[in-house]
Amino acid sequence: MKAVVQRRYGSAALGELPVPVPGRGEVLLEVRAAGVDMGTWHLLTGKPYLVRAVGFGLRAPKSPVLGRDVSGVVTETGPGVTEFEPGDEVFGTCGGAFAEYAVAPVAQLARKPAGLSFAQAAAVPISGGTALQGLRGVQAGQRVAVLGAGGGVGSYGVQIARALGAHVTGVCSTGKVDLVRSLGADEVVDYTVADFTGTYDLILDCGGNRRLSLLRKALTPRGTLVLVGAETGAPLTGGFERALHAAALNLFVSQKLLPLMSAERGDVFDELRVLIEAGAVTPAVEREFPLSEALDAVDHVHSRRSRGKVVVTI
Ligand SMILES: NC(=O)c1ccc[n+]([C@@H]2O[C@H](COP(=O)([O-])OP(=O)(O)OC[C@H]3O[C@@H](n4cnc5c(N)ncnc54)[C@H](OP(=O)(O)O)[C@@H]3O)[C@@H](O)[C@H]2O)c1
Repeated sequence: MKAVVQRRYGSAALGELPVPVPGRGEVLLEVRAAGVDMGTWHLLTGKPYLVRAVGFGLRAPKSPVLGRDVSGVVTETGPGVTEFEPGDEVFGTCGGAFAEYAVAPVAQLARKPAGLSFAQAAAVPISGGTALQGLRGVQAGQRVAVLGAGGGVGSYGVQIARALGAHVTGVCSTGKVDLVRSLGADEVVDYTVADFTGTYDLILDCGGNRRLSLLRKALTPRGTLVLVGAETGAPLTGGFERALHAAALNLFVSQKLLPLMSAERGDVFDELRVLIEAGAVTPAVEREFPLSEALDAVDHVHSRRSRGKVVVTI
């Protein structure tokens, strides 16, 4: 099969590999599309080095194929699998989605939402799941700010917060204002013109470049700051130190300062399927790249030019 093969951090190329064999609790997928996000760039480069230490392979990538977000058709089931059968259309995550075939654990899969293309479905799992988990506990009528609202996680954050009945302010750079408005934000702040002001019950921070003290000033006394990610470029921790600082400070303040580590689970993807089928959430796919241009897709996301989601189609 064709696959974007990655034997070491920092380089990958289209190559040929044998079709993998599903083990216990796994299925073999004929991949139709694979999502791209900042995490794909982190796994390609092995930077910041912290990503290597959290289970993706210290010296070399554990998965010889790049890509995690996946949609496709089940072609074979491994021992013990009762949840899916050949022919089922699914979406979720796996190790090695940039390939014609991939093996995925059933615990990381859900049925593809009715009415979505495979490309749209592959844009959902990691970004949508992260936004959903970051917005847990939001009540109707609360004020929510989404920073980085025109990015992958943020584009779901705006829609999910709206679906929960919150008043949503999306914060982004100029080129993403139209997108964020179209996603249903009640207010859109172009931070190149004016920084966002106001008082929020929850801030979902997907941009990661504002100081904690500034963010805390924009929260109610019992408000919640969810730190999704930061791209400071620091080679060792890549901005994670801000999350550690927040976790320590959280012990001493009335506000909740919560670094998020989202889980890739089929039940989370099922919740997203329900929101999508109800019409509350639609993946904002900006661009599709063929498998042969998968690395260009990763570059496009890393360049910060992407709006919403980017997908590789197989
Ligand atoms: N905690 C978790 O479990 C988890 C899960 C998924 C992703 N993440 C992390 O969360 C962050 C957002 O992910 P994403 O997939 O939404 O990324 P994305 O699609 O690139 O969106 C991030 C947005 O943040 C803004 N931004 C600010 N500074 C940036 C910088 N130096 N480089 C790139 N973008 C910058 C950009 O918006 P403007 O152009 O409007 O400034 C961009 O649209 C990333 O750091 C990612 O690694 C964490």
